[in-house]
Amino acid sequence: MVVTIDGPSGAGKSTVSRKLALLLGFAFLDTGALYRGLALAAQWAGLDASDETSVAAWLEGLDLMARPQDGRFLVLLEGRDVEPFIRNEQIAGLASRLSTQAAVRGHLLSLQRQAGVLGDLVAEGRDMGTVVFPRAEAKFFLNASPAERARRRFRELGAQQPGLILEDVLADLNQRDQRDASRALSPLRPAADATLVDTTLLDQAQVLALLLEKVRALAGRA
Ligand code: DC
Repeated sequence: MVVTIDGPSGAGKSTVSRKLALLLGFAFLDTGALYRGLALAAQWAGLDASDETSVAAWLEGLDLMARPQDGRFLVLLEGRDVEPFIRNEQIAGLASRLSTQAAVRGHLLSLQRQAGVLGDLVAEGRDMGTVVFPRAEAKFFLNASPAERARRRFRELGAQQPGLILEDVLADLNQRDQRDASRALSPLRPAADATLVDTTLLDQAQVLALLLEKVRALAGRA
């Protein structure tokens, strides 16, 4: 069974998706980490991200993969776990800019689909229910008000970036959402058959309970 969880940043996808996968005994795939891993590789290569022809050529030699380990997929760049290097706003912005390019999306599409053939999966991202796993048995689209999403991002990032200002986080978030939702290829939007969940007034435990109940009901019916 494949469960897809899409939505903008700060909607509360990451922790809930991870915990849902754990409770269901499914593998967990964070597809944003693949986009971020690709952005990190581009940064390290000194690539001009706006030059689509160079990006497409560069992708052919890129050694990026998602490897299953202990119930989740690790994103490996040239065999190295990228996790310590990708959780910052600079990489997030570059990932968002690169994700508008057809060659990038095509490259990562096959990596994501390969994860889906290995067994039960919770896949989190922007286009899981619409493009990557259109036949998934359970689809969710999480959202929250921009102000609440910015507050959540601020809390997450604040510890590592002491000078951070909430207004800047909100501006960055709005810019990235706007780009993710308005791009021509696989824009951020709910699948027609997705369950919409507004998490603005819900805590993580409430969102998790809601998703778990729905997945169990769907699995029982399958
Ligand atoms: O979920 P995240 O913040 O780690 O994602 C970083 C960027 O990657 C996001 O702004 C857009 C892109 N992305 C995408 O286009 N499609 C996905 N399935 C996941 C992420």
